[in-house]
Amino acid sequence: MIHFLGIETSCDEAAAAVVSSSGRVLSNIVYSQIADHAPFGGVVPEIASRAHVEWLPGIVRQALTEAGLAWGEIDGIAVTSEPGLASSLLVGVTAAKALALRLDRPLVAVNHIEAHLRSVFLGESPLDPAAATVALVVSGGHTCLIELAPDGAPRLLGQTLDDAAGEALDKGAKLLGLGYPGGPAIEAAAGGGDPNRVAFPRGGVASAIEGFDPALCFSFSGLKTALRYYLRDHPDARDALSLPHVAASYEQAVVSALVERLEAALERTGAPQAAAAGGVVRNRRLRAQLAEMAARRGIRLGLAAPEFCADNAAMVAAVAAAGFGRTVRPVAGLEVRPSAPIGWDAP
Ligand code: KG4
Ligand code: ZN
Repeated sequence: MIHFLGIETSCDEAAAAVVSSSGRVLSNIVYSQIADHAPFGGVVPEIASRAHVEWLPGIVRQALTEAGLAWGEIDGIAVTSEPGLASSLLVGVTAAKALALRLDRPLVAVNHIEAHLRSVFLGESPLDPAAATVALVVSGGHTCLIELAPDGAPRLLGQTLDDAAGEALDKGAKLLGLGYPGGPAIEAAAGGGDPNRVAFPRGGVASAIEGFDPALCFSFSGLKTALRYYLRDHPDARDALSLPHVAASYEQAVVSALVERLEAALERTGAPQAAAAGGVVRNRRLRAQLAEMAARRGIRLGLAAPEFCADNAAMVAAVAAAGFGRTVRPVAGLEVRPSAPIGWDAP
């Protein structure tokens, strides 16, 4: 049995975790800075990296303590090195390099999207790792559809042309006068609302990036604009009586766009199982409608457990523990790639 220490600082969460080669999560510590950034309505890179410097050492120590391991029992270090905020990525990568050198252990560079993708296998997953999977990765920064072949090679099938789904929720919440982050705020405001009250656009794409099927790509900028015009034309839309319906309709537009594209990808690939991961997958309307779609098609569905949806380091360590990621030699040669693509070529 080997143990990987995972480190994640690509955005506004500083996290450390220990995962074994059998996929067991021994510890999973996350320090979320949401409260630090909330007054600004979004992530402030300078604040994020400074907080990472302050918090990461303690978080790493706590991950080790909770796992009940000594430094000598760590067999490798896994770290998110791409994509993300440069100044945030640098903190985790620098710490990981120092630990790998000091402990004389391998250093594995992990792509953040791949970590989200493979988080669907953490815990009690109904998925068969030996079968092809089509997965949706949806967060505040990313929205993409990926096919994971049985041999483990990920292939990007489609992605957003503009905003990410989480970003669309965050911006929509801002327009509605709700809090940050917007996803949970819209979900709360939508409680009891009629999701069909307002017909918001569902993110159709006429022509996609070259090499991608438009039916598997997303666009959320029109949705945000539609909400802006709706609010202009309906001055009482934010009233207590109307807000639940407007929020539920907006949330439903995002959910429909995601579920429909995932279903189109299943149609095209014939994959026997689907999965979804990333912060937006905490959304209950999305989880329920994905489950309905999977039941209707008679396929297996693996949703990342809520504790592994938001950014965390267990998913980073798990990539390395499963034998994926890129082992970097010499350790000092690892550089961050803030705007790295998902790392896989278009079809
Ligand atoms: O994966 P994540 O924690 O960080 C990124 O890598 O971006 O995702 C954060 C995003 C935010 O846009 C947030 O509004 C959204 O996930 N989110 C949700 C919910 N919880 C977080 N969206 C919808 N419903 C939720 N319950
Ligand atoms: Zn993320």
